[in-house]
Amino acid sequence: MHAVTDAPAETQRRDALAERLFLSTVGAVDLLAVHVGDRLGWYQALADGGPSTAAELAAAGGTDARYAREWLEQQAVSGILEVDDAAAEADARRYTLPAGHAEALLDRESLSYSAPLARITVACAAVMPQLLEAFRSGGGVPWTAYGADGREAQADVNRPLFVHLLGQEWLPSLPEVHERLSRPGARVADVACGGGWSSIAIARAYPHARVDGYDVDEASIDLARANAAAAGVADRVAFHVRDVSLDPAPAGPYDLVCVFEAVHDLAQPVPLLAALRGLAGEDGTVLVMDERTAETFTAPGDEMERMLYGYSVFCCLPVGRSEDPSVATGTVMRPATLAGYAREAGFADAEVLGIEHDTFRFYRLV
Ligand SMILES: C[S@@+](CC[C@H](N)C(=O)[O-])C[C@H]1O[C@@H](n2cnc3c(N)ncnc32)[C@H](O)[C@@H]1O
Repeated sequence: MHAVTDAPAETQRRDALAERLFLSTVGAVDLLAVHVGDRLGWYQALADGGPSTAAELAAAGGTDARYAREWLEQQAVSGILEVDDAAAEADARRYTLPAGHAEALLDRESLSYSAPLARITVACAAVMPQLLEAFRSGGGVPWTAYGADGREAQADVNRPLFVHLLGQEWLPSLPEVHERLSRPGARVADVACGGGWSSIAIARAYPHARVDGYDVDEASIDLARANAAAAGVADRVAFHVRDVSLDPAPAGPYDLVCVFEAVHDLAQPVPLLAALRGLAGEDGTVLVMDERTAETFTAPGDEMERMLYGYSVFCCLPVGRSEDPSVATGTVMRPATLAGYAREAGFADAEVLGIEHDTFRFYRLV
């Protein structure tokens, strides 16, 4: 053990870390409890039924009253629910979901929708045995191992951004793209489309456009097809199970070829980017959205960088390494890394666009 040279300073650091981890534990149980309320439909039941007792909540959700009571008490103590009469007998107390909390927990198109953050965290924790094995062996954990929680939470977490910003702000801020997508016969390829919300948002914003969404994951394509049908755009949005880097057969050229939040997940990004070049032909635009990382490694980092590294360790890096060979990018793909992949794929550069967003950065590959 190293000698401690500055005991008071080290004592402060020890105490600060212990305090921080205690608060992190409080935050972790908040997320777990939100996941329970989300998955069991308890938040929805409270929103639909109004102030409820434990027995009423349990009956509405087909769940057990004693567990419902404990969860309600936990939620009230945590300040997520309000208790109408804390002094009443436990079984007589009624609990209310405040309207603002209902939006953050239940409104899937609200920009404040946060329940998927709990779900993705649970999905990462659920594969911990495989993660530990991968960290030992140098292997990976495939995206399919994260299951419906990973797949659906990923789709849900980006859905409000796509629905509210992609067709209303982000694409219109690129005049040439906006103009081309507004023409009759416009064509868009949405590569690694996941649950399809980006494809759906583009189709909604550009009524003349036809969109092809591509993903290697069959379950994601099933989800995307169901989402497009429910959104009423299935006649102009088609989804395909395909790795376009291996099989770019779907006929280009497309006016717009985009990849949203996926390049850093790829074991082999260069062949995929090269295929995008082909799909865009001479005149199409290749657009990449990926995480707004810091320009360079800086430690300690801000909360966004901490979050990105968390997703990288527990999801994106192991997913990227589940194929061999892999360039092993991880979530923290900095602009210079993408520019390097783009040049290897035959582009001159990955131009950073001026679109402002806290989480994402946008690039045009030229
Ligand atoms: C992080 S998710 C992003 C999904 C979606 N674009 C979004 O923003 O929600 C990454 C997606 O990339 C897909 N993927 C991985 N490798 C791929 C490949 N070679 N070709 C197409 N899709 C791929 C995965 O199946 C997954 O759906």
